Amino acid sequence: MTLTTIQSIPELRTHLEQRRVLGERVGLVPTMGFLHRGHTSLIKAAAAENEIVVTSLFVNPLQFAESEDLTDYPRNLERDMELAEAAGSDLLFTPSVDEMYPFGPVLTSVSVTEISERWEGETRPTHFAGVATVVAKLFSIMGPCRAYFGEKDFQQLTIIRRMAADLSMPVDVVGCPIVREPDGLAMSSRNVYLNSAERAAACVLRRALDAGLEAIEGGQRSAVAISTIMSDLVDAEPLAELDYCAVVDAQTLEQHAILSGDIRLLVAAKIGRPRLIDNAGARI
Ligand code: PAJ
Repeated sequence: MTLTTIQSIPELRTHLEQRRVLGERVGLVPTMGFLHRGHTSLIKAAAAENEIVVTSLFVNPLQFAESEDLTDYPRNLERDMELAEAAGSDLLFTPSVDEMYPFGPVLTSVSVTEISERWEGETRPTHFAGVATVVAKLFSIMGPCRAYFGEKDFQQLTIIRRMAADLSMPVDVVGCPIVREPDGLAMSSRNVYLNSAERAAACVLRRALDAGLEAIEGGQRSAVAISTIMSDLVDAEPLAELDYCAVVDAQTLEQHAILSGDIRLLVAAKIGRPRLIDNAGARI
C-alpha cells in the first residue's frame, strides 16, 4: 500500500471513520519526525497488530520551553515519508501548528502531576503537560485502538499510560524496547547535534546503565550505591555534564532506598549541545 499524507484534521477523521466501519483497527505512532530506526520499530510493531497505521509527524511547540530547540528541531519530510512507508505506515498525519492549535495558546491542558514533576520534569517543568496535551489531542482526533511509544522516553511512556488510565481513554498504550546504535548509544533525533568527539563520549550513558545493572546482578540493593556507581562513570567523562542518575520504581518513578520489584535505571546528561537521556530495566 502506498503512503497517504494528510494535513487536515477533518480529512483524517473522515478517512479513518470510513475504514473503521469496515472493521479496521487504527494503530497510532506519534512522532516529531526526523525518523530513525527507533521510530520505525514502533511503526513495524503497529503494522503487525493493526489494519491501519497512522504515523503523526508534528513538532509540538507546547512541549518546548523558550530556551529549547523548537525552531531548529531537525526536519526531513521526504526522508520521513520513505522510512514511514517502508516500515508499514499507511498514513502520515502532518498537521501545521495552526491546524493543531487554531485558537493560539491552548486554554485546556492535560497535566499528569507527581510523575511529571520529577527527573526530566525538574529541568523541563512545562514539558510533560505539553506532551500529554498533544497526545490526548491525537487520541481524540484519531480514536486509535492502540498507540505505540518507545521505552527510550521512559518517563513519557509512564505519564501517557497514567493519563490514559486516569481518563479512561479507550486506547491500549504499547511500550516498545529501546533501539540502539551498534556501540550502545540510544537512537535519538537529537544525536545529529553531536560532533565526533561528543558522539564517542555519549556512549558513557549506556556504560553507566550497564555498570548499574551489573551491580544489581552482583546483589547490590541500595539505590544510592547504584546511582553513585553510575554518576561516577558519567562524571569521569570530561565532555559529559551529568544531570541525574537514579534507580526508581518502574510505575511511580519514585526512588526508594532499597530496591525491589520492577525497577528502572535512569540517566540524563548534557553532551555538548544536546541533553541526552537513557534508561534500562531490571526485576528483583
Ligand atoms: P519523538 O522524540 O519523535 O519520539 C517519538 C517516539 O519514538 C516516542 O515514543 C519515543 O520514545 C520513540 N523513540 C525515540 N527514540 C527511540 C529509540 N531509540 N528506541 C525506541 N523508541 C524510540 O517523543 C516524542 O517524539 C514526542 O514527545 C511525542 C510523543 C510525539 C509528542 O509530541
